[in-house]
Amino acid sequence: MSQQQLRSHLLNARASLSAAERDDAARQVGEHLRNLPELQQSCTLGSYFSVRAELPTHAINQHLMDAQHQLALPILHPILAGHLLFLQLSETTQWTHNKYGIPEPELNAQHIVPLQQMQVLLVPLVGFDRSGNRMGMGGGFYDRTLSAWHKGHIKNLLPIGLALDCQLVDELPKNPWDVPLPMVITPAKTWDFRS
Ligand SMILES: Nc1ncnc2c1ncn2[C@@H]1O[C@H](COP(=O)(O)OP(=O)(O)OP(=O)(O)O)[C@@H](O)[C@H]1O
Ligand SMILES: [Mg+2]
Repeated sequence: MSQQQLRSHLLNARASLSAAERDDAARQVGEHLRNLPELQQSCTLGSYFSVRAELPTHAINQHLMDAQHQLALPILHPILAGHLLFLQLSETTQWTHNKYGIPEPELNAQHIVPLQQMQVLLVPLVGFDRSGNRMGMGGGFYDRTLSAWHKGHIKNLLPIGLALDCQLVDELPKNPWDVPLPMVITPAKTWDFRS
């Protein structure tokens, strides 16, 4: 199967779940997440706004904010194509839509949160394998975002993929630019690939 065929196969598997099944999955993932040692004190997290058949992050994000964590959400970088910027959320956040129709906070330079200031970055994915290799939507956004972390330039950051159990495959093809994840949380378990 080519990479593109595998991506559409995984997207179909994800889309075959009902909204109720996805909400249920999100509840379980949220519970695993809240039990992580890294989240027992208030911290700064990067998260994302789920779209289409992705594991829903709305309730997860709300829970994290209710637990006094600082949350930052990605926007498409206004100058550097293919890159993301993370903006801190607040009660006064103004929302807009990017060119993919995904809601994002309006750009305000004062609200930018660099990766260096985050303890956790929640990462969307289309598929992952038993070694933590990740396949996304094919834009390379998270590979670029995580490349400095992968090279060891960002200490103290734990990237965590959030996924449904049907997004697990035995082995993903790996490109030189792909950044494997140290952890993925699904309803069934917390996959820790660090050891
Ligand atoms: N660090 C990088 N620097 C330059 N180009 C990159 C980098 N990472 C990925 N790319 C480019 O992005 C394109 C898409 O990459 P890939 O197919 O791995 O996306 P993905 O991991 O599925 O997407 P995403 O990370 O947005 O979820 C590739 O053509 C690749 O060359
Ligand atoms: Mg990739």
